[in-house]
Amino acid sequence: MKQAFVQGASRGLGLAMTQTLLRRGDFARVFATARDPERSEGLAALAREFGEALVLLPLDVCDDKSIASAAERTAAATDRLHLVINAAGVLHDESLGLQPEKRLEHVRPESLRRAFEVNAIGPLLVARHFLPLLRHDERSVLANVSARVGSIEDDRLGGWYAYRGSKAAQNLFTRNLSIELKRRAPRCICVALHPGTVDTALSRPFQGSVPPGQLFDARDAAARLIDLLESLGPEDTGSFLAYDGSSIPW
Ligand SMILES: NC(=O)c1ccc[n+]([C@@H]2O[C@H](COP(=O)([O-])OP(=O)(O)OC[C@H]3O[C@@H](n4cnc5c(N)ncnc54)[C@H](OP(=O)(O)O)[C@@H]3O)[C@@H](O)[C@H]2O)c1
Repeated sequence: MKQAFVQGASRGLGLAMTQTLLRRGDFARVFATARDPERSEGLAALAREFGEALVLLPLDVCDDKSIASAAERTAAATDRLHLVINAAGVLHDESLGLQPEKRLEHVRPESLRRAFEVNAIGPLLVARHFLPLLRHDERSVLANVSARVGSIEDDRLGGWYAYRGSKAAQNLFTRNLSIELKRRAPRCICVALHPGTVDTALSRPFQGSVPPGQLFDARDAAARLIDLLESLGPEDTGSFLAYDGSSIPW
């Protein structure tokens, strides 16, 4: 029976992907993590609806010990995962004074550090601790939710130094990891994903500039991403893909 793991599932896209996986029933169990799972109303509702098919675990991507502990608890329940999704991400966080920079003078070391910790270092550490659960002889997928604005080649507007830089770093880590996984987990397909602009707290302050029809509902976006992940073959490992399956330049 297939098992999935979603990191960053408290709300937004991570929660919607967890819900999609549970509703479709292709996975016998979904492990879903959040900094504080008990504070997520969305996860509480899914836990009531799906019972033992959903396992909630605490995980803060800025805390290596908490990632290691979630990996240990997952490994105690299963010897393999068929899908690992890193969904957590930060673009703005008012409590930390983190705002996307419009110009160089807005760049702050604390904002850069936080964005890199959550968006780039965290997913890599998740891969590090969960690798043993991906080393098996069945097809598996490791998907890092990235963002088109992390593409260096596609950067035409500038600004957003912390977010763009951290997503570019996440992309490099994903690509690098895909190369190592070819040797160490050859049946694992490792990709970076751009979900489109999705109606979540992350995009809310910036939705005014989104062209009509380009702001996606989180459930629709989640369904599309899960469809895409199911369609991937070994040749797709190491790619950066948009929600519609098109390739994005690194
Ligand atoms: N929405 C968009 O338009 C859009 C576009 C392109 C890419 N993305 C990417 O999609 C992913 C999901 O974003 P979203 O739109 O769903 O954002 P969101 O609604 O703001 O959710 C962000 C998620 O990240 C979690 N998170 C933040 N810091 C964390 C930490 N230190 N440890 C663990 N979890 C942490 C949050 O958990 P808490 O509840 O604990 O804060 C929350 O679950 C992100 O990687 C984002 O960069 C989104």
